[in-house]
Amino acid sequence: MTEVVSVDLQHPDPEIIARAAEILRQGGLVAFPTETVYGLGADGLNPVALARLFEAKGRPATDPVILHIVDLEALPQLAREIPPAAWTLARRFWPGPLTLVLPKQPIVPDLATAGLPTVALRMPAHPVALALIRAAGVPIAAPSANRFGHTSPTTAQHVLEDLAGRIDLILDAGPTAIGVESTVVDLTRPVPTILRPGGLPREALEAILGPVAVFDRSVAGPAPAPGMLPKHYAPRAEMVVLIGSGGWLRLRLRELAIRYLQEGYRVGMLIAEEDQPAVADLPVEIAVLGSEGDLEGVARRLYPAMRDLDARGPDLILARDFGTRGLGLAIRDRLIRAAGGRVMKAEDSP
Ligand code: TXA
Ligand code: MG
Repeated sequence: MTEVVSVDLQHPDPEIIARAAEILRQGGLVAFPTETVYGLGADGLNPVALARLFEAKGRPATDPVILHIVDLEALPQLAREIPPAAWTLARRFWPGPLTLVLPKQPIVPDLATAGLPTVALRMPAHPVALALIRAAGVPIAAPSANRFGHTSPTTAQHVLEDLAGRIDLILDAGPTAIGVESTVVDLTRPVPTILRPGGLPREALEAILGPVAVFDRSVAGPAPAPGMLPKHYAPRAEMVVLIGSGGWLRLRLRELAIRYLQEGYRVGMLIAEEDQPAVADLPVEIAVLGSEGDLEGVARRLYPAMRDLDARGPDLILARDFGTRGLGLAIRDRLIRAAGGRVMKAEDSP
């Protein structure tokens, strides 16, 4: 049985937190909110609990998890050879949507890192998450609280849909604020490398680090880390992402929708407010992600909109890209993964 308990976002009830922490210390599984998405927590130093975590998610053991911490003292306990840049980033952006990949200390179980010599660490900016980690007194391993390969959860209801009966407890503090996962930065390479763009924009990192490398998912190539399978965050429907901007993008969106309709598809569209007039007369299911100028809003609505649209039963979802500035990079990455790499450029001839 999976219990769902409501907690106040700003002032979580200490008794509820203590109970959840006790479940974690006993090797159980507790889903909890972070500022990015809901995580599925387990004691990050307990291999038995970690094995349960992978089992509940249906996640392959080759996919390493992030350890969530509550204070900077945990950093040298879990990681070694910590470069000055790591301390600078941690002081500047933690708690927040940033995950640092560093060489691991021996205390970190191989199950957490999928046998890699590195560990991923993050301090989440959410009062419930921080209270829970503090009460548990151990680093908390927490992948997104969805079945492996599904769309990440931004509400407790999403967690329940994927994991009911497979985990002990869900702490419900309402929808998450950012809506896409943390930015994962590998600091063990000669040049800091964004392995997964996320809630902390590249520009914010570069303001401190200078130029960083980005693993570019819109360009074919080998994945830089295990677990970075191209198909992820996926809806049931087939999905295609259209990259481009302005008038061209809208023209092509309309053109493609008409073509798929003619081929007999039930078409769903993930679009911006500004695209609506271009497709309003078409018999398609539409999910509006917000204004193209409001990337925070688009990121927050992305996963719930993908779930809602998918539930309306289209065979094919046509999604539009939001560029690479700010959260645009993370939005593009998630769209391309959900589409399993099916990308079209607006400028290409049909
Ligand atoms: O926002 C988030 O990061 C959420 C919340 C719950 O904190 N967590 C999350 O975890 O997204 P997960 O497991 O869904 O994604 C973890 C990512 C994966 O892309 C994984 O490959 C990468 O972090 N990762 C973990 N450890 C790594 C390592 N040692 N080296 C390289 N990548 C690593
Ligand atoms: Mg995930």
